[in-house]
Amino acid sequence: MTKRKFPDLFYNPISMAGAIIASVTFGTILVLMLIDTIWSALPPYFGIVTYILLPSVMILGLIVIPIGALLERKHWRKAAEAGVPPLPKIDLNDRQQRTAFFFFSTATLLLMLFTAIGGYHAFEFTESVQFCGKICHRVMKPEYTTYLHSPHARVACVECHVGPGASWYVKSKLSGAYQVYAVLFNKFPRPIPTPIKNLRPARETCEQCHWPQSFVGERRITRAFYLEDSANTRWDIDMLIKIGKSTSGEASRPPVHWHVTHTVEFLPSDSTSQTIPWVRLVLANGTTETFTTSDNPFTPNSVAKSKVKTMDCMDCHNRPTHVIKTPGQAVNDAMAAGSISPTLPWVKQTAVNALTPRYKNTADALDTIALSLHSFYQGKYPKIALQDSSKINEAVSSLQGIYKENFFPYMKVDWRAYPNDIGHQDYPGCFRCHDGNHKSADGKIIPNSCQTCHLILSQGAPTDSVVNLAGVAFKHPPAGIGDAWQGAMCTDCHDGTQ
Ligand code: HEC
Ligand code: HEC
Ligand code: HEC
Ligand code: HEC
Ligand code: HEC
Ligand code: HEC
Repeated sequence: MTKRKFPDLFYNPISMAGAIIASVTFGTILVLMLIDTIWSALPPYFGIVTYILLPSVMILGLIVIPIGALLERKHWRKAAEAGVPPLPKIDLNDRQQRTAFFFFSTATLLLMLFTAIGGYHAFEFTESVQFCGKICHRVMKPEYTTYLHSPHARVACVECHVGPGASWYVKSKLSGAYQVYAVLFNKFPRPIPTPIKNLRPARETCEQCHWPQSFVGERRITRAFYLEDSANTRWDIDMLIKIGKSTSGEASRPPVHWHVTHTVEFLPSDSTSQTIPWVRLVLANGTTETFTTSDNPFTPNSVAKSKVKTMDCMDCHNRPTHVIKTPGQAVNDAMAAGSISPTLPWVKQTAVNALTPRYKNTADALDTIALSLHSFYQGKYPKIALQDSSKINEAVSSLQGIYKENFFPYMKVDWRAYPNDIGHQDYPGCFRCHDGNHKSADGKIIPNSCQTCHLILSQGAPTDSVVNLAGVAFKHPPAGIGDAWQGAMCTDCHDGTQ
């Protein structure tokens, strides 16, 4: 019999299997970690295997070693009829036991060192955009795709969704564990409902980088709209939105970030906060002023029992990065950029109509979009279909691009799934409170005149736009509705398909 290096207890099939599993996985992890330091641009699954899957298998193997030894001991005790003492004796004078002792203590120290390094990599990896956006890519596709085209494409998902500090890290990993289960067993809702739970309060995340209290002056917004007529008549809007403190040269209108420097509380009557019948303003001296709509269901009693929300960044900027364009807006932007030529008759209307149906899947949508544009021009304008075929093809590929970036049939996500609360044309947005119907007990109204929030500098056809720094009254684009827009919610007629 050859001399054994370790106590005989460890020479049993279970402990041996554990030892083999642990050492093989350990070796593999070392090689993969080396690869990770040498190559960048590895697939997203690489990190999961190296820093999560293999270490779990290795630890399992390590746990199996002492379990095997314990079982073996029990076996011996039975055989020796209680001749063996209940706990092992450690005797460092015994050569076998000494080797085992030093081997296990060195191995434990090394393992702790590697666990620290591996753990750090695991942490780094689960915080990466790749992990969040690509691992379950079918589920996260809408958020990941829209994120890549947003001003926050260089901000990691976790900067908004988790933020700094240990407690939110743990909270997010716990809800993350449930999400992995939900994805594996296909138990997740489509679309993912908003507002999402466990999204950290905006003041703690957005304010790491933005500080609206120190914003100064106005932001200029210029937009091109095209009407649904044969000439695709263009109608521009150029306006200023005051985002911060007044500069010396301008009138001191209150800025839109007024809500961040004051406390505005509200209670919605639906889960997505699209209907807000109850608003309370808390003034600096502690007094309050409550504004309600005529159909407000909240009584002082039910308010006291409800979880009153305090307005923060996300109550206006709910889509700062997952920006999903409406068909109208996407086509307007593509026409202004020239990728859909405004010289094609009726192209605004035809393009919007091609984007609007709910398609089964992306392939089906891309085919039908191409078909509907080609058949429209072949049927109504055969001459243009022939002469301007390159313009039509260009419009088709532009529309297909719009579809891929803003429509995600697998997750049932498009502009209809998530309202955007900035503005008021296609979604209620600011008009959830500033609609002229929110009154206080003494008859005060949350201001809703068109100059409250922006100053229109010019509007109309690009050729006759003269900038007027004092501001001009809004003219609704010529749509045959006369003055019907006045006193109405824009969303009474607009739903993103104009
Ligand atoms: C600039 C901050 C920010 C970044 C960066 C960001 N998100 Fe979000 N995300 C939000 C906000 C705010 C919401 C809440 C949207 C709402 O309530 O309508 C949200 C919502 C979501 C939702 C819920 C579904 C939806 O579309 O509303 C998912 C899923 C999501 N984000 C995933 C991601 C992933 C994956 C990344 C990185 C690729 C990411 N987010 C990056 C701010 C961010
Ligand atoms: C890690 C830093 C970081 C965080 C956190 C962050 N942002 Fe940003 N944000 C940026 C950067 C960088 C830009 C791009 C600035 C630019 O293009 O001038 C930006 C741009 C913006 C813009 C202007 C977009 C436009 O149309 O030009 C808005 C609005 C905005 N962020 C809102 C938010 C909100 C709301 C949150 C919290 C949910 C948030 N940000 C969190 C860094 C951040
Ligand atoms: C009452 C709604 C509202 C709230 C609350 C709000 N914002 Fe804004 N914010 C706006 C509007 C409106 C604009 C103008 C730009 C636009 O219309 O897209 C703007 C613009 C911005 C911009 C772009 C500024 C620029 O230079 O163009 C940033 C960044 C921003 N907000 C961050 C924040 C952050 C961070 C918070 C929370 C602390 C916040 N906002 C709260 C309405 C709001
Ligand atoms: C939850 C309700 C609510 C929403 C949503 C809301 N506001 Fe307000 N806003 C208020 C209240 C309340 C006041 C204070 C009215 C007062 O002073 O009596 C206010 C005041 C303002 C003021 C200062 C007006 C003044 O003359 O004192 C501006 C500007 C403003 N809001 C812009 C916006 C914009 C832009 C949006 C959309 C992006 C928006 N608000 C969304 C509740 C809201
Ligand atoms: C409570 C603030 C507020 C009031 C009141 C308000 N607006 Fe606006 N409006 C906004 C904001 C914020 C945007 C910009 C949204 C964005 O960045 O896309 C906007 C955008 C617009 C646009 C550009 C269309 C778009 O969405 O791009 C038009 C046109 C407009 N407003 C007209 C009006 C008219 C007409 C009135 C009066 C009936 C009015 N607004 C009252 C806040 C307001
Ligand atoms: C009574 C119905 C009605 C109301 C209310 C209404 N609109 Fe319109 N609007 C229309 C129609 C119809 C068109 C023309 C659609 C077309 O030809 O593309 C239109 C077109 C527009 C356009 C240009 C087309 C485009 O691409 O968006 C803008 C901008 C616009 N409206 C802004 C507003 C704003 C802002 C409000 C709220 C203050 C508003 N509208 C209220 C019916 C309405």
